[in-house]
Amino acid sequence: MGTPTRGTTNPNRLRRVDNWIAYRCAEPLRAAAVPLVIDLGYGATPVTTMELRARLAAAVRPDVQVVGLEIDPARVAAAEPAADPPGLRFARGGFELAGLRPVVVRALNVLRQYDESAVVDAWRTMTDNLAPGGLLIEGTCDELGRIGCWVLLDGIGPQSLTLAARLATLDTPGTLAERLPKALIHHNVPGTRIHALLRALDDGWRAAAPYATFGPRQRWVRAVGAVREAGWPVLDRPGRWRHGELTVAWAAVAP
Ligand SMILES: C[S@@+](CC[C@H](N)C(=O)[O-])C[C@H]1O[C@@H](n2cnc3c(N)ncnc32)[C@H](O)[C@@H]1O
Repeated sequence: MGTPTRGTTNPNRLRRVDNWIAYRCAEPLRAAAVPLVIDLGYGATPVTTMELRARLAAAVRPDVQVVGLEIDPARVAAAEPAADPPGLRFARGGFELAGLRPVVVRALNVLRQYDESAVVDAWRTMTDNLAPGGLLIEGTCDELGRIGCWVLLDGIGPQSLTLAARLATLDTPGTLAERLPKALIHHNVPGTRIHALLRALDDGWRAAAPYATFGPRQRWVRAVGAVREAGWPVLDRPGRWRHGELTVAWAAVAP
């Protein structure tokens, strides 16, 4: 495998979502005859695609096959030296997924460049091309990967929203609003469900301030517990909360 140009992309930028993918998508990946994963729109350097392959190979199955797809041919050519087939390949492709049938698609920081009106069609084009039982993870994060939010979709449609933060540097969960997925970011105004969820999380975080003595993880776990007690359909088991995650059913926040 060649040495890629790392450019200015932070290799850890997508660590949070990758950690969640390794947990949430492990079952279909392990069951698949061909454990194919697509990283759609990997950007100026292939470094986050390489990180995804390394994480899934270590945590889920060593024979995972990750394909980075880019709409920009210059970016495909630039990534080529990093290819390590069959585990890591790069090709030109868009939402139709280049005719491949992946078990998992990660599309991070791609739809944020589009109009909100393009989201549903893009989601549908990608999910129509998944393998049976396949999953799409679509979302947004900040440059350093400190905060990120993503939607999980299957062949039926959106299933959940995950909010995730690096707790050591988190001021208040309200900052997650800056990186909501395209489908939600313009709806975060008083009176909407996403706004109410972020407010519930902020309230829980504030109320849990005394637990900060035991570290931000304890405080976050208490805050998520408060969100669940307030009636929000929190999906992931409490063991995930300590990673700085909150996952709720999509129906609870859908605009
Ligand atoms: C901001 S970069 C994101 C890079 C990387 N995913 C990350 O999160 O660090 C967005 C990339 O998506 C690519 N892109 C935009 N629309 C696309 C599409 N329909 N299919 C594939 N790639 C696309 C762009 O060329 C660009 O390289």
